[in-house]
Amino acid sequence: MGWRSKEILLATGGKLLRSGKKDRFGEVVTDSGKVKQGSVFVALKGQRLDGHRFVRDAVRRGAGCVVVHRDLYPSTYGAAAVVKVRDTLRALGDLAHYRREIYRPRVLAITGSNGKTTTKEMLAAILEEARADGKPLRGRILKTEGNLNNLVGLPLTLLRLNNRHEAAIVELGTNHPGEIERLAEIADPDMGIITSVAAAHLAGLNSLAGVAREKGALYRGMRPGGTIAVNMDDRWVRRLGEKFKGKKITYGRGGEVRAESWRSLGAKGMLLHLRAGDRRARIRLNLIGEHNIVNAVGAAAMAYGFGASLAAIRRGLEQAKPFRMRMQLDQWRNVGIIDDAYNANPASMEAAVKTLAGLECRGERNAVLGDMFELGRRSRRQHFQLGRRVARAGVDRLYLLGAQAKQVREGALRGGMASERIVIGRDHRDIAIRLRGHLKRGDWLLVKGSRGMKMETVLDKLKSGTA
Ligand SMILES: Nc1ncnc2c1ncn2[C@@H]1O[C@H](COP(=O)(O)OP(=O)(O)OP(=O)(O)O)[C@@H](O)[C@H]1O
Ligand SMILES: [Mg+2]
Repeated sequence: MGWRSKEILLATGGKLLRSGKKDRFGEVVTDSGKVKQGSVFVALKGQRLDGHRFVRDAVRRGAGCVVVHRDLYPSTYGAAAVVKVRDTLRALGDLAHYRREIYRPRVLAITGSNGKTTTKEMLAAILEEARADGKPLRGRILKTEGNLNNLVGLPLTLLRLNNRHEAAIVELGTNHPGEIERLAEIADPDMGIITSVAAAHLAGLNSLAGVAREKGALYRGMRPGGTIAVNMDDRWVRRLGEKFKGKKITYGRGGEVRAESWRSLGAKGMLLHLRAGDRRARIRLNLIGEHNIVNAVGAAAMAYGFGASLAAIRRGLEQAKPFRMRMQLDQWRNVGIIDDAYNANPASMEAAVKTLAGLECRGERNAVLGDMFELGRRSRRQHFQLGRRVARAGVDRLYLLGAQAKQVREGALRGGMASERIVIGRDHRDIAIRLRGHLKRGDWLLVKGSRGMKMETVLDKLKSGTA
């Protein structure tokens, strides 16, 4: 697919500081270690590292063109072409946007406080099924890998587009105002979904209204003629949807696509009766937790709006599996484990605790919870409320880790949990040791915390016996 300097200048509005030996370049990369012969190296300035310091290395590895926003010694550039832009991060997005407009796949964008990756994977599974049926698409489907949802990840995803792709499913994430607006500008979505508006990243976004304004940028940034999916069960999303003038697919209570009923099959998953328009399907999900019903219905709504058949929706959803460290079920010595260690915020904590409380259990329900990050000045209160909720939900034992553990403990005591049932651990290992002493067959164990808390370490130490 490659690039020419003319295209790079057109896409970024940059200046050609010097032409290189050649004018045909390969793919865009931001990691100098991944540069191949002829690559376009974009020097990004990150929090820790400045890509401008790696230009020499990129050139040595064969970069055909380098994109910079700071002047370097001319000798640094070797035989590479040099494009100077105002801001290389912006230029990366511009290059991705250019590709998106050239290849014109239908772009389906997903944002929201919770469930983005899950919804994305479910939607991708459905569209792969629709593709197998040959309707409404035959071409390839590109999707965000893992969680590459920010101002670097989204461009790198779209830069993988080629002329065989007919659809691109992209995840858009944010932790500060303006990010979704820019991501939507880059992706220029044909379809968009805001899964939820909840208390996450409050440090950057300030309040729920701030979160709504930020996520709402997706609906405001839709391509003309675009369609949005609106979660009727989320009052913030519903309000954002009301302001949108174009085509809408509603889902959730009273929506066009909705769960008529569902029930838990314990550790085996859930059974969902889905309605889309005037048709129905019975779907067996391999996932647990009521919040995954919401995610499944959201993915179904997007697929339905895209034109997928209900049969493809059913087959796709039945294939969706839990993703690593996201409500992933596991076992250890006849103790059921819910590994949700990937991340946490108040809404996802609530969803996970509710799931734990709702599981059939012969023994005790244990929760190992680490701090929730990025809650700003609401942090103490949110942790206190978490503790109270855990106690009231009927969790039997609580193991806590982190600077906010005391707040969670206070809340749990207020919620009526006996103090001897609450442990504040010194570190992961300490908690693993205590779990070994307490867990019995038939118990359930939930493990969850913000990414930085690395709560999976507790499970590693528990299982490997290094505790
Ligand atoms: N609809 C939902 N409502 C509340 N919590 C949810 C929902 N969906 C998922 N979760 C919780 O959030 C966790 C992460 O899910 P997922 O990775 O799909 O979210 P995400 O929005 O992509 O997160 P991130 O912001 O880290 O990219 C899950 O393990 C689960 O605990
Ligand atoms: Mg994600």
